[in-house]
Amino acid sequence: MFSKVTSWVVAASALENAACLFYLAFVSQWIHLVAVLPLYAFKNDDNEPIENDIQTLPEEECQMSFLNNLLLGLWEERMSQGLFRYDVTTCETKVIPGRYGFIAQLNEGRHLKKRPTEFCIDKVLQPFDENKFNFTKVGQEEVLFRFEPSTDYKPHYFSGMRVNSGISPSIVAINVSPIEYGHVLLIPRVLDCLPQRIDRDSFAIALHFASEVADPFFRVGYNSLGAFATINHLHFQAYYLSVPFPVEKAPIQKILARKGLGGAGVIVSKLLNYPVRGFAFEGGNGSTARDLSDAVVNSCISLQNKNIPFNILIAQCGKKIFLLPQGLEIGYCWEKVADEIIMNVGRGFNEEICYAEKQALGVVDQELLDTQVNPAVWEISGHIVLKRTNDYNDASEEYAWKLLSEVSLSEERFEEVKGYISEAADLQAEEDKNINPEKEIPDSSGPQVASHMPSDCLVLQ
Ligand SMILES: *[C@@H]1O[C@H](CO)[C@@H](O)[C@H](O)[C@H]1NC(C)=O
Ligand SMILES: *[C@@H]1O[C@H](CO)[C@@H](O)[C@H](O)[C@H]1NC(C)=O
Repeated sequence: MFSKVTSWVVAASALENAACLFYLAFVSQWIHLVAVLPLYAFKNDDNEPIENDIQTLPEEECQMSFLNNLLLGLWEERMSQGLFRYDVTTCETKVIPGRYGFIAQLNEGRHLKKRPTEFCIDKVLQPFDENKFNFTKVGQEEVLFRFEPSTDYKPHYFSGMRVNSGISPSIVAINVSPIEYGHVLLIPRVLDCLPQRIDRDSFAIALHFASEVADPFFRVGYNSLGAFATINHLHFQAYYLSVPFPVEKAPIQKILARKGLGGAGVIVSKLLNYPVRGFAFEGGNGSTARDLSDAVVNSCISLQNKNIPFNILIAQCGKKIFLLPQGLEIGYCWEKVADEIIMNVGRGFNEEICYAEKQALGVVDQELLDTQVNPAVWEISGHIVLKRTNDYNDASEEYAWKLLSEVSLSEERFEEVKGYISEAADLQAEEDKNINPEKEIPDSSGPQVASHMPSDCLVLQ
């Protein structure tokens, strides 16, 4: 399966070996010393209409993309080099019985071995602080390749590309504390030290990453500050999970739409019967990737400016994007206490209390607190990483539901946020009345095909 990839990997390794004198230097240093990295230049076709839904293609036509092969090949190579802090493929995972199929993972290593991060969060937008942990400290051996727009309409791959000084590459690096197979970080313009905030160009890179890997089991996620991002240096995460996320299975109802030229447009739906209130963005008939991206980016910018924390899940190869606003304005600190990062609450300055504050005030169910799960994008989407065997064994749909409900907006607040989004993305109310929210969740919803995953990372049913 990975035979095609091997030769590229070998080429990349040879370059790295040549540079092994600097092997342990940090990005900020080695990039100017070594300055050779594989480069994947993605095709810049944002103005082309979004192609047919990949799920409607017959299975044999669903070919693995070059980028998918490259990513898996290089990631496995890093695994064989022992660069991860633990072996995620041995972590037990199960689908919790129930309607949604929440996914629980037992991962005893992650929380203790996470990179140290300490900073206070009282705003969704905070300036970059060079004294805090950031990805300029990523080791060269952790970087897989550069991922940047190509200068024409075609994708290109260069196994060893000189990084000219003065250039700040966008890189894909392994997450040394993975929560699933293929867990990577996408760090736009790493040396520019952008703070964690959505901007047009960076989001376009993330969307291209999802669409060019072209695997429905590969999702790209984002946490804003206040929605459990722990590092204030712009980054997206991504990994493979070979089952649908529960959020992808939730029924949705169209609430907003934009009619573009010739019927092109964007459709925004709300999640029904899901513990977290949220939005799903999809391209309408004949819309372009740019239309979809603009609608999401404009919405995120509006939420950022209004100090509303949120998570983003890019699913279905970039064709469906979930935007999940959280609790409300925030005030807490991540602090290091005896080798563990704990959350310490500062001040909240709004009428509604967010999860972090509820935690401190003791409003959150003690049982939930004891499991110490922070609901970031993966948890909110339905993949819950637990660090205690008992919690894993006892994990029920009821528990997952309760945990996620804690971070949801209230109905009133959701309506208010819907107003912001409608205004920011220039969308009109367009309610689809023919929806029965009580309808059964179809088994066929969410991605189907799955045969390329190694057996040890398949989820136990
Ligand atoms: C953060 O980034 C700056 C570059 O702006 C770097 O000099 C510094 O060492 C980094 N700090 C940490 C703790 O990683
Ligand atoms: C999509 O748009 C084309 C042309 O603009 C039109 O012919 C077609 O009926 C539309 N399809 C749907 C499902 O609206």
